[in-house]
Amino acid sequence: MASAETQGKAGDSPGPLVQGGRTERLLLAMAPVKDVLSAFCEESKGGGGSAEDRLGIFAQDAFAALVEPPWDDPFGPSDRYLKQLVNRFVRLVEGTERTDLSSDALAGLLARASLVPAGSGAPDPLASCYLSFFLDRDGGPGGDGPVFSLHPLRIRVFPDHNDVALRLWEAGSVLAEYLAEHREIASGRALLELGSGCGATGLVAAAACGPKSVHLTDYTEACRLNLEHNLLVNREWVERHGFSPGKITQGYLEWKSFLEDYAAHAAASSGGDGDQPDAANGPAANADANADANADASPSDGATMKAFLEADVLLAADVIYDINAIDDLVHVVKYFLSESPDSKQAIIASTKRNSATFEFFLETIAKYGMLYTWIARGEDCEALPRIFEGNFVQERRDVSICRIHTASFRES
Ligand SMILES: C[S@@+](CC[C@H](N)C(=O)[O-])C[C@H]1O[C@@H](n2cnc3c(N)ncnc32)[C@H](O)[C@@H]1O
Repeated sequence: MASAETQGKAGDSPGPLVQGGRTERLLLAMAPVKDVLSAFCEESKGGGGSAEDRLGIFAQDAFAALVEPPWDDPFGPSDRYLKQLVNRFVRLVEGTERTDLSSDALAGLLARASLVPAGSGAPDPLASCYLSFFLDRDGGPGGDGPVFSLHPLRIRVFPDHNDVALRLWEAGSVLAEYLAEHREIASGRALLELGSGCGATGLVAAAACGPKSVHLTDYTEACRLNLEHNLLVNREWVERHGFSPGKITQGYLEWKSFLEDYAAHAAASSGGDGDQPDAANGPAANADANADANADASPSDGATMKAFLEADVLLAADVIYDINAIDDLVHVVKYFLSESPDSKQAIIASTKRNSATFEFFLETIAKYGMLYTWIARGEDCEALPRIFEGNFVQERRDVSICRIHTASFRES
């Protein structure tokens, strides 16, 4: 395992495994254990010999060295996951005829795995772990190929908690990867995200795209605490990528209640009764003056209202699943665009699960007089360079990304 202070280039391998290489990355992202092990077998080919030889003592030692540091790392994968990985590796070794469990290091790991409670009993909803992801940067000083930063993005998740906001979802991951490949969407712009969950999409957008600012929003208390935590533990990471950590913030925004807050805010700004909140020259101009008052008057904090009014691009991922919430969500998007219909846009990534819900989402966009354009679908999403190697329920090709805009929107 490479030290956190080193940087390695692909192919720069002192042993059988490439530092910061694929196996290590998959392991730290808690990718499916079968994928970690096939990457391990592939990568340890450098050690020579047949596939069976590679599972001999040399590879057993290398495997133990790979798993041991994450096990000691408070920012590592969960114990249950590491136990599954060790057990599966052992089964792989035992399945070959020419090798047996001959490594002391592997025996030590096995002993450790046996101490992890089996999956009996109810899963602990308060058990958390970290998923780590690496944002490759181009070039380096010589500009000769990718340089892997061994400082990962750390995302704390609660795999067994029933709050959907405490896990990572395909659409959020794919949206982050899409933005990293199409930096022009976010570069120099103020971003506001709805339903940010663990914050991974916004953190990657901050680090990869050079936006003006990023404001993440969500609504459950558990989610907001976790979001704040993830922003805190990644301050150094975003800074390393040239983004000031003070410019990525988070706040409360619940879609239904925000509609009322926005109407009240618009009324306060215009001196009217709040019936027409979507005038083109809306309340953005008064945002500073109203921010503090709004913080007292409504659950949407003033900073969030201000960020909503001032943002250029609204982002949201995996927010289309509850048919009862769609009208409010799309209405929030309409209010957002109405502040500056020629230049504001919303980029929404969705995983198609239920056709009726998805159709309703598209119909609601039309109902509110907005247009949508698909900017990545199916294979486009599948083909994006991976940052998030996680263990997702659905395929990336089930994700679609659309831009919602008004008829007068002009891309710049
Ligand atoms: C499936 S999760 C997606 C999280 C994250 N965007 C991702 O892709 O990993 C849906 C998110 O929408 C948020 N959400 C659901 N209903 C909401 C509402 N009425 N107001 C605000 N956020 C909501 C949830 O709290 C959760 O964070």
